[in-house]
Amino acid sequence: MEKAKIAVIGGTGFEDMLSHAKQLRVKTPYGTVSSLLIGKLDARKIAFIPRHGLNHSIPPHKINYRANLFALCKIGVECVIGTNAVGAINTNFKPADIVVPHDFVDFTRQRSLTFYDKAPVTHTDFSHPYCPELRRLLIENSRQHHYAKSWDKGVLVCTEGPRFETPAEIEMFRRLGCDVVGMTGLPEAILARELKMCYAALCFVSNMAAGLQEKLTPLEVSLVFEKAAPSLIKILTRTIAAIHEERLNCSCANALKEARFKRCSRSSSQL
Ligand code: HPA
Repeated sequence: MEKAKIAVIGGTGFEDMLSHAKQLRVKTPYGTVSSLLIGKLDARKIAFIPRHGLNHSIPPHKINYRANLFALCKIGVECVIGTNAVGAINTNFKPADIVVPHDFVDFTRQRSLTFYDKAPVTHTDFSHPYCPELRRLLIENSRQHHYAKSWDKGVLVCTEGPRFETPAEIEMFRRLGCDVVGMTGLPEAILARELKMCYAALCFVSNMAAGLQEKLTPLEVSLVFEKAAPSLIKILTRTIAAIHEERLNCSCANALKEARFKRCSRSSSQL
């Protein structure tokens, strides 16, 4: 099977950024991933999964996040960049801006959010929710090249969708300290860490969130995406070119080392 060390998981519209793309079918314990592409982004071989399928048929709450991440792990991926369209809650952020979030809040409801539904009971540390090294590279490459206004911090709240939020929900998220809202950032970030992969998100603002503009439509999201896509692809290309063959200098590969309880000895458990 073809292998790759770096992957992008993105919305619809990124498929064409790869040259010499081959489509793979990868079987996993969670289902088969049939839309995984391997190809070249400039000089680097990468994997790409269009989250919503190749013909945009999978809504955010029905994406098989576990199969996608497991399939990437199976083909050797160590480093994943997730791209997301987001609505701006923080009114300093404007449509077409780029955001590299540093933290997230999970408001999803019915998604399989872990590979560890059974023993060993596993509690991964999310004190640093995204890989700091991958974030650093994304921030450097977003800033350095001035493609668009970029924000190097932001709290992303992920909602279940597929409907957009109400103004009251957005006001609640604002009071909670959230800057941007999307429907696809989670549980991707969680599952990647459970597989010891580096993961960071590259978001672009497609609209002001509900209540901050008159109404929200997918058409607007795709029109802003078309404008932002060349910048996003440049940032991805340069960031990926800056990732060396060896693993980044971060602790993502050790994410599970201290994530489990030590089994109590009989005498201490009787105390
Ligand atoms: N809310 C949720 N998801 C989104 C939005 C939004 O305003 N814009 C793009 N994806």
